[in-house]
Amino acid sequence: MSSSEYEKLIAAARRATSVTVLTGAGFSAESRIPTFRDKQTGLWEKFDVMDLATPQAFERDPSLVWGWYEWRRALVKKAQPNAAHRALATLEKYVPQLTLITQNVDDLHERGGSQGIIHLHGSLERPRCVHCEEPYAHPEGIPDVPQGGARVEPPRCLACGCRVRPGVVWFGEPLPELEWLAAVTAASSCEVFFSIGTSSLVQPAASLVEHARGAGALTVQVNLNSTDCDMLFDFAIQGAAGEELPRLFRAVWGAEAETPRS
Ligand code: OAD
Repeated sequence: MSSSEYEKLIAAARRATSVTVLTGAGFSAESRIPTFRDKQTGLWEKFDVMDLATPQAFERDPSLVWGWYEWRRALVKKAQPNAAHRALATLEKYVPQLTLITQNVDDLHERGGSQGIIHLHGSLERPRCVHCEEPYAHPEGIPDVPQGGARVEPPRCLACGCRVRPGVVWFGEPLPELEWLAAVTAASSCEVFFSIGTSSLVQPAASLVEHARGAGALTVQVNLNSTDCDMLFDFAIQGAAGEELPRLFRAVWGAEAETPRS
Protein backbone atom coordinates (compact mmCIF):
# COMPACT_ATOMS: atom_id res chain seq x y z
CA MET A 1 0.00 0.00 0.00
CA SER A 2 1.47 3.40 -0.98
CA SER A 3 2.00 6.08 1.66
CA SER A 4 -0.65 8.34 0.10
CA GLU A 5 -3.17 5.47 0.27
CA TYR A 6 -2.20 4.90 3.90
CA GLU A 7 -2.78 8.60 4.62
CA LYS A 8 -6.22 8.36 3.00
CA LEU A 9 -7.06 5.38 5.20
CA ILE A 10 -5.90 7.22 8.33
CA ALA A 11 -8.06 10.25 7.50
CA ALA A 12 -11.14 8.10 6.79
CA ALA A 13 -10.72 6.02 9.95
CA ARG A 14 -10.31 9.17 12.04
CA ARG A 15 -13.66 10.48 10.81
CA ALA A 16 -15.52 7.21 11.41
CA THR A 17 -18.01 7.00 14.25
CA SER A 18 -19.00 3.40 13.58
CA VAL A 19 -16.53 0.60 12.88
CA THR A 20 -17.12 -3.13 12.47
CA VAL A 21 -14.26 -5.62 12.75
CA LEU A 22 -14.29 -9.25 11.61
CA THR A 23 -11.42 -11.40 12.85
CA GLY A 24 -10.17 -14.87 11.93
CA ALA A 25 -7.56 -17.38 13.00
CA GLY A 26 -4.66 -15.17 11.88
CA PHE A 27 -5.58 -12.77 14.67
CA SER A 28 -4.57 -15.37 17.26
CA ALA A 29 -1.57 -16.69 15.29
CA GLU A 30 0.84 -14.44 17.18
CA SER A 31 -0.49 -16.01 20.40
CA ARG A 32 0.71 -19.32 18.91
CA ILE A 33 -2.74 -20.64 18.16
CA PRO A 34 -2.52 -22.42 14.80
CA THR A 35 -4.58 -21.13 11.87
CA PHE A 36 -6.51 -23.51 9.62
CA ARG A 37 -5.22 -22.98 6.11
CA ASP A 38 -1.69 -21.58 6.36
CA LYS A 39 0.72 -23.84 4.52
CA GLN A 40 2.61 -26.24 6.84
CA THR A 41 1.25 -24.78 10.09
CA GLY A 42 -2.52 -24.74 9.38
CA LEU A 43 -4.67 -27.29 11.22
CA TRP A 44 -6.36 -28.43 7.97
CA GLU A 45 -2.90 -29.22 6.53
CA LYS A 46 -2.43 -31.89 9.22
CA PHE A 47 -5.94 -32.99 10.13
CA ASP A 48 -8.92 -33.95 8.00
CA VAL A 49 -11.79 -31.55 8.52
CA MET A 50 -14.28 -34.35 7.78
CA ASP A 51 -12.89 -36.45 10.68
CA LEU A 52 -13.03 -33.62 13.22
CA ALA A 53 -15.33 -30.74 12.36
CA THR A 54 -18.67 -32.16 11.23
CA PRO A 55 -21.67 -33.52 13.16
CA GLN A 56 -21.14 -36.87 11.36
CA ALA A 57 -17.55 -37.06 12.65
CA PHE A 58 -18.78 -36.65 16.24
CA GLU A 59 -21.45 -39.32 15.75
CA ARG A 60 -18.89 -41.70 14.26
CA ASP A 61 -16.04 -41.17 16.72
CA PRO A 62 -17.01 -38.88 19.63
CA SER A 63 -13.87 -39.47 21.68
CA LEU A 64 -11.57 -38.60 18.74
CA VAL A 65 -13.42 -35.32 18.16
CA TRP A 66 -13.77 -34.43 21.86
CA GLY A 67 -10.05 -35.15 22.47
CA TRP A 68 -9.01 -32.92 19.54
CA TYR A 69 -11.08 -30.01 20.82
CA GLU A 70 -9.74 -30.55 24.34
CA TRP A 71 -6.20 -30.32 22.94
CA ARG A 72 -7.12 -27.05 21.22
CA ARG A 73 -8.75 -25.76 24.42
CA ALA A 74 -5.56 -26.56 26.33
CA LEU A 75 -3.50 -24.60 23.76
CA VAL A 76 -5.77 -21.58 24.16
CA LYS A 77 -5.70 -21.79 27.95
CA LYS A 78 -1.91 -21.69 27.89
CA ALA A 79 -1.87 -18.78 25.39
CA GLN A 80 -1.98 -15.05 26.07
CA PRO A 81 -3.68 -12.28 24.07
CA ASN A 82 -1.24 -10.59 21.68
CA ALA A 83 -0.60 -6.98 20.65
CA ALA A 84 -3.45 -7.11 18.11
CA HIS A 85 -5.99 -8.20 20.75
CA ARG A 86 -4.84 -5.44 23.07
CA ALA A 87 -4.84 -2.77 20.36
CA LEU A 88 -8.37 -3.69 19.28
CA ALA A 89 -9.63 -3.48 22.86
CA THR A 90 -8.43 0.13 23.11
CA LEU A 91 -10.56 1.15 20.11
CA GLU A 92 -13.67 1.04 22.27
CA LYS A 93 -12.40 4.30 23.76
CA TYR A 94 -12.09 6.04 20.41
CA VAL A 95 -14.94 4.75 18.25
CA PRO A 96 -18.46 5.47 19.58
CA GLN A 97 -19.91 2.39 17.89
CA LEU A 98 -17.49 -0.52 17.61
CA THR A 99 -18.69 -4.05 16.84
CA LEU A 100 -16.29 -6.95 17.03
CA ILE A 101 -17.26 -10.13 15.20
CA THR A 102 -14.98 -13.15 15.40
CA GLN A 103 -14.81 -16.52 13.70
CA ASN A 104 -12.41 -17.63 16.43
CA VAL A 105 -13.53 -20.10 19.06
CA ASP A 106 -10.87 -18.97 21.56
CA ASP A 107 -11.42 -16.35 24.27
CA LEU A 108 -8.38 -14.20 23.52
CA HIS A 109 -10.43 -11.15 22.50
CA GLU A 110 -12.21 -11.31 25.87
CA ARG A 111 -8.94 -11.74 27.75
CA GLY A 112 -7.40 -8.93 25.66
CA GLY A 113 -10.04 -6.56 27.03
CA SER A 114 -12.71 -6.43 24.31
CA GLN A 115 -16.38 -6.57 25.21
CA GLY A 116 -19.63 -7.64 23.56
CA ILE A 117 -17.89 -9.93 21.08
CA ILE A 118 -20.04 -11.73 18.50
CA HIS A 119 -18.78 -15.31 18.23
CA LEU A 120 -19.98 -16.53 14.83
CA HIS A 121 -18.48 -20.01 15.12
CA GLY A 122 -19.17 -20.65 18.79
CA SER A 123 -16.69 -21.07 21.61
CA LEU A 124 -14.47 -23.80 23.03
CA GLU A 125 -15.66 -22.73 26.46
CA ARG A 126 -19.37 -23.29 25.78
CA PRO A 127 -19.92 -27.05 25.34
CA ARG A 128 -23.49 -28.32 25.45
CA CYS A 129 -25.55 -31.50 25.42
CA VAL A 130 -26.13 -32.97 21.95
CA HIS A 131 -29.69 -33.76 22.92
CA CYS A 132 -31.17 -31.18 25.34
CA GLU A 133 -28.57 -28.46 24.68
CA GLU A 134 -28.01 -27.96 28.42
CA PRO A 135 -24.71 -26.05 28.83
CA TYR A 136 -21.87 -28.04 30.39
CA ALA A 137 -19.22 -26.48 32.64
CA HIS A 138 -15.69 -27.72 31.94
CA PRO A 139 -13.74 -28.68 35.07
CA GLU A 140 -11.27 -26.01 36.19
CA GLY A 141 -7.73 -26.15 34.86
CA ILE A 142 -5.97 -27.00 31.63
CA PRO A 143 -6.99 -30.27 29.97
CA ASP A 144 -4.16 -32.79 29.92
CA VAL A 145 -4.18 -33.97 26.30
CA PRO A 146 -1.01 -34.64 24.24
CA GLN A 147 0.00 -32.49 21.25
CA GLY A 148 -2.46 -33.06 18.40
CA GLY A 149 -5.02 -34.67 20.69
CA ALA A 150 -5.82 -38.17 21.86
CA ARG A 151 -9.13 -39.95 22.26
CA VAL A 152 -10.99 -38.57 25.29
CA GLU A 153 -14.49 -39.80 26.10
CA PRO A 154 -16.86 -36.79 26.13
CA PRO A 155 -18.61 -36.12 29.44
CA ARG A 156 -22.31 -36.84 29.91
CA CYS A 157 -24.99 -34.21 30.33
CA LEU A 158 -26.00 -33.80 33.99
CA ALA A 159 -29.62 -33.18 32.96
CA CYS A 160 -30.33 -36.03 30.52
CA GLY A 161 -27.24 -38.27 30.39
CA CYS A 162 -26.54 -37.77 26.68
CA ARG A 163 -23.10 -36.86 25.34
CA VAL A 164 -21.73 -33.34 25.65
CA ARG A 165 -20.36 -31.84 22.41
CA PRO A 166 -17.93 -28.98 21.79
CA GLY A 167 -19.66 -25.59 21.63
CA VAL A 168 -18.41 -24.77 18.16
CA VAL A 169 -20.14 -24.56 14.79
CA TRP A 170 -19.21 -27.48 12.54
CA PHE A 171 -19.24 -27.64 8.79
CA GLY A 172 -22.78 -28.30 7.59
CA GLU A 173 -24.32 -26.54 10.60
CA PRO A 174 -26.00 -23.14 10.53
CA LEU A 175 -24.47 -20.21 12.37
CA PRO A 176 -26.21 -19.14 15.59
CA GLU A 177 -29.12 -17.05 14.33
CA LEU A 178 -28.94 -14.06 16.69
CA GLU A 179 -25.18 -13.72 16.27
CA TRP A 180 -25.48 -13.83 12.49
CA LEU A 181 -28.25 -11.22 12.46
CA ALA A 182 -26.21 -8.96 14.71
CA ALA A 183 -23.16 -9.41 12.46
CA VAL A 184 -25.08 -8.56 9.29
CA THR A 185 -26.63 -5.52 10.97
CA ALA A 186 -23.22 -4.28 12.14
CA ALA A 187 -21.59 -4.86 8.73
CA SER A 188 -24.48 -3.14 6.96
CA SER A 189 -24.46 -0.06 9.13
CA CYS A 190 -20.77 0.77 9.70
CA GLU A 191 -18.63 3.42 8.08
CA VAL A 192 -15.44 1.36 8.20
CA PHE A 193 -15.26 -2.45 8.00
CA PHE A 194 -12.05 -4.28 8.91
CA SER A 195 -11.39 -7.92 8.04
CA ILE A 196 -8.32 -9.11 9.91
CA GLY A 197 -6.45 -12.42 9.85
CA THR A 198 -8.98 -14.37 7.84
CA SER A 199 -8.61 -16.14 4.50
CA SER A 200 -12.21 -15.06 3.71
CA LEU A 201 -12.88 -18.54 2.36
CA VAL A 202 -15.59 -19.69 4.75
CA GLN A 203 -19.16 -18.58 4.21
CA PRO A 204 -21.29 -16.94 5.36
CA ALA A 205 -18.71 -14.97 7.41
CA ALA A 206 -16.78 -14.10 4.25
CA SER A 207 -19.88 -12.38 2.82
CA LEU A 208 -19.96 -9.73 5.56
CA VAL A 209 -17.62 -7.53 3.55
CA GLU A 210 -20.22 -7.52 0.76
CA HIS A 211 -22.84 -6.26 3.22
CA ALA A 212 -20.43 -3.52 4.28
CA ARG A 213 -19.61 -2.58 0.69
CA GLY A 214 -23.30 -2.58 -0.20
CA ALA A 215 -23.89 -0.06 2.55
CA GLY A 216 -21.06 2.17 1.31
CA ALA A 217 -18.53 1.40 4.08
CA LEU A 218 -14.82 1.75 3.55
CA THR A 219 -13.39 -1.77 3.64
CA VAL A 220 -9.95 -2.70 4.95
CA GLN A 221 -8.19 -6.07 5.03
CA VAL A 222 -5.19 -6.81 7.25
CA ASN A 223 -3.48 -10.09 6.41
CA LEU A 224 0.00 -11.52 6.52
CA ASN A 225 -0.40 -12.48 2.87
CA SER A 226 -2.40 -11.27 -0.07
CA THR A 227 -5.64 -13.27 -0.34
CA ASP A 228 -8.00 -14.22 -3.15
CA CYS A 229 -10.30 -11.51 -1.80
CA ASP A 230 -7.93 -8.52 -1.84
CA MET A 231 -10.02 -6.92 -4.58
CA LEU A 232 -13.09 -6.79 -2.33
CA PHE A 233 -11.34 -4.28 -0.08
CA ASP A 234 -10.62 -0.61 -0.61
CA PHE A 235 -7.36 -1.06 1.29
CA ALA A 236 -5.37 -4.28 1.75
CA ILE A 237 -2.63 -4.00 4.37
CA GLN A 238 -0.14 -6.83 4.16
CA GLY A 239 1.55 -7.68 7.46
CA ALA A 240 1.12 -9.26 10.88
CA ALA A 241 -1.95 -8.03 12.77
CA GLY A 242 0.11 -7.61 15.95
CA GLU A 243 2.32 -5.09 14.17
CA GLU A 244 -0.04 -3.46 11.69
CA LEU A 245 -2.95 -2.70 14.04
CA PRO A 246 -0.94 -0.89 16.73
CA ARG A 247 0.82 1.06 13.94
CA LEU A 248 -2.43 2.02 12.21
CA PHE A 249 -4.33 2.82 15.41
CA ARG A 250 -1.42 4.94 16.65
CA ALA A 251 -1.46 6.86 13.35
CA VAL A 252 -5.23 7.39 13.55
CA TRP A 253 -5.90 7.95 17.25
CA GLY A 254 -2.50 8.73 18.74
CA ALA A 255 0.01 6.90 20.92
CA GLU A 256 -2.48 5.94 23.62
CA ALA A 257 -4.47 3.83 21.15
CA GLU A 258 -1.93 1.04 21.11
CA THR A 259 -1.67 0.52 24.83
CA PRO A 260 -3.93 -1.73 26.84
CA ARG A 261 -6.76 -0.17 28.76
CA SER A 262 -6.08 0.15 32.49
P1 OAD B 1 -7.66 -19.45 7.90
O1 OAD B 1 -6.65 -20.38 8.45
O2 OAD B 1 -8.45 -19.90 6.72
O3 OAD B 1 -6.96 -18.07 7.50
C1 OAD B 1 -6.10 -17.42 8.38
C2 OAD B 1 -5.58 -16.19 7.65
O4 OAD B 1 -4.79 -15.45 8.57
C3 OAD B 1 -4.70 -16.49 6.43
O5 OAD B 1 -5.19 -15.75 5.32
C4 OAD B 1 -3.31 -16.01 6.86
O6 OAD B 1 -2.59 -15.44 5.78
C5 OAD B 1 -3.66 -14.97 7.90
N1 OAD B 1 -2.63 -14.75 8.94
C6 OAD B 1 -1.81 -15.66 9.52
N2 OAD B 1 -1.07 -15.09 10.47
C7 OAD B 1 -1.42 -13.78 10.51
C8 OAD B 1 -1.01 -12.66 11.30
N3 OAD B 1 -0.09 -12.76 12.23
N4 OAD B 1 -1.60 -11.47 11.03
C9 OAD B 1 -2.54 -11.33 10.06
N5 OAD B 1 -2.97 -12.36 9.30
C10 OAD B 1 -2.42 -13.56 9.52
O7 OAD B 1 -8.60 -19.02 9.14
P2 OAD B 1 -10.06 -18.37 9.09
O8 OAD B 1 -10.20 -17.47 7.93
O9 OAD B 1 -10.32 -17.83 10.45
O10 OAD B 1 -14.34 -22.64 11.00
O11 OAD B 1 -10.94 -19.65 8.88
C11 OAD B 1 -12.34 -19.52 8.87
C12 OAD B 1 -12.97 -20.74 9.48
O12 OAD B 1 -12.48 -21.93 8.84
C13 OAD B 1 -12.65 -20.97 10.94
O13 OAD B 1 -13.46 -20.21 11.82
C14 OAD B 1 -12.92 -22.43 11.10
C15 OAD B 1 -12.19 -22.93 9.87
O14 OAD B 1 -12.51 -24.18 9.42
C16 OAD B 1 -14.96 -23.51 11.78
O15 OAD B 1 -14.37 -24.16 12.62
C17 OAD B 1 -16.43 -23.57 11.54
